[in-house]
Amino acid sequence: MKSADLLIRGGQVVSPEGIVPASVAIADGLIVAVGHDDLMPPARETLRADGQYLLPGAIDSHVHFRDPGYPHKETWATGSAAAACGGVTTVFDMPNTNPPTGTREALAMKLKAAERSFVDFGIHALLGDDTVHLLEDLLEGGATSFKAFVGNTFGNLPAPSDGALLEGFEILAPLGVRTVVHAENSSIMARRQKQLQDAGRIDAQAHLAARPAVAEIEAIGRVLTLAEWTGARVHIAHHSAADSLFLLRAAKARGVDVTVETCPQYLLLNTADMLRLGGILRVNPPVREARHNQPLWDALMDGTIDMIATDHAPHTPEEKTRESIWACDCGFPGVETQMPIMLTEVNRQRATLMDYVRWSAVAPAKAWGLYGTKGVLQVGAHADIAVVDMERRGTLHQGRLQSLSKISPWHGRAVQGYPVHTLLRGRFTLRDGRLVDDSIGWGRSVKTVQRMPTPQPRNTEHSSRAIVAHPAGVRPNALPDDAVAAELAR
Ligand code: DOR
Ligand code: ZN
Repeated sequence: MKSADLLIRGGQVVSPEGIVPASVAIADGLIVAVGHDDLMPPARETLRADGQYLLPGAIDSHVHFRDPGYPHKETWATGSAAAACGGVTTVFDMPNTNPPTGTREALAMKLKAAERSFVDFGIHALLGDDTVHLLEDLLEGGATSFKAFVGNTFGNLPAPSDGALLEGFEILAPLGVRTVVHAENSSIMARRQKQLQDAGRIDAQAHLAARPAVAEIEAIGRVLTLAEWTGARVHIAHHSAADSLFLLRAAKARGVDVTVETCPQYLLLNTADMLRLGGILRVNPPVREARHNQPLWDALMDGTIDMIATDHAPHTPEEKTRESIWACDCGFPGVETQMPIMLTEVNRQRATLMDYVRWSAVAPAKAWGLYGTKGVLQVGAHADIAVVDMERRGTLHQGRLQSLSKISPWHGRAVQGYPVHTLLRGRFTLRDGRLVDDSIGWGRSVKTVQRMPTPQPRNTEHSSRAIVAHPAGVRPNALPDDAVAAELAR
């Protein structure tokens, strides 16, 4: 038997189907054997994982690594180091950088910056009015997928018009490429925010008042309509409101290819935390009233919400603690703390480890066409593994984050359950709880990993794709035909 590079012995392998004691052998970055210890090939190195669990590395569909444009907030090196320390092996980065990822040049800049990544990555490029004619070009340049900022947020990128969104979906549907949507209604929010500001409000609760749940309900409804019409694949980012779940349930039942993420902050925090934390917890969409928390858990459990992402959105402490809530930048770091926070909920028996793996790895791998190669610990898959210790307790500390953003609403939270080792394609990025500095740059674009079969586009008859230059034999509308002209001449 060919010898392996690494053998992980004594741990329990987790999948949505079960938890089984098994050893895992790795060679050339791939898993080459999973099973009884006696059946393992010889290996150059052994890692003991007694009492620990082997999870497929987490795949975070939603991070902002800020590079290029805001290197004081985060860089690819620091953001991806945070990911590695959080048991994450693949991230998808958002396009609201500077320049925004809406041209080949900007995309090339981002891919250059990502050469310093500790994790594998996908790049969501920008879908907007100015980029809709460039979508195929951006895919050729290395984008994996797109993001539409239907609701305004950090970076102030203009929301795509409904027309541009429809056209974008018409272009992407036959290609099978998924678009992430920040689903909030910009017009509702802009008017509300102005009214609140005119009234002199600068307190934390005003942020939620400016972005009511109806803004999310309306935008999700609109996006689902366009997705269903065209057959395009869509992904709802950071789902926050209980009230819009019925739209997702109904759309999924009708076969709309929509995937949905929520984030730990919407499951576990609410307005009481906003009162306590103010601008530190300012995020778009806002953390809402406590009544939203449990329905979001229920939706994860029943599959209406597919996955956990983080919306890792780093800003500096100064940018998060200004006097007026409107002056505090929105978002906070999350890629490093997601796993301990969620494992703590598993320890509290709010979900099983099998559920967690479905939300953190399997569902995102499926949504982005990576499943089989990533998202699962099986022979032939990438050896992307988080080895977790479910007993280890600690307290999250913002000052000890790898992220440049040393401010977090999770600061001081007691957790139980940590990744102790992270492997990306067989190489340690986190070992014994420490970042492996040498693994900087080991991350690669997932662009080459297998993709899903493309779906059939729908309703192409009057698609913008069907518009061609004046077709031969069609008479200009302004000229009445001969019979009508004769009639008119009488
Ligand atoms: O609060 C947020 N911050 N929400 C987003 O959608 C974007 C993010 C950012 O980039 O800072
Ligand atoms: Zn975001």
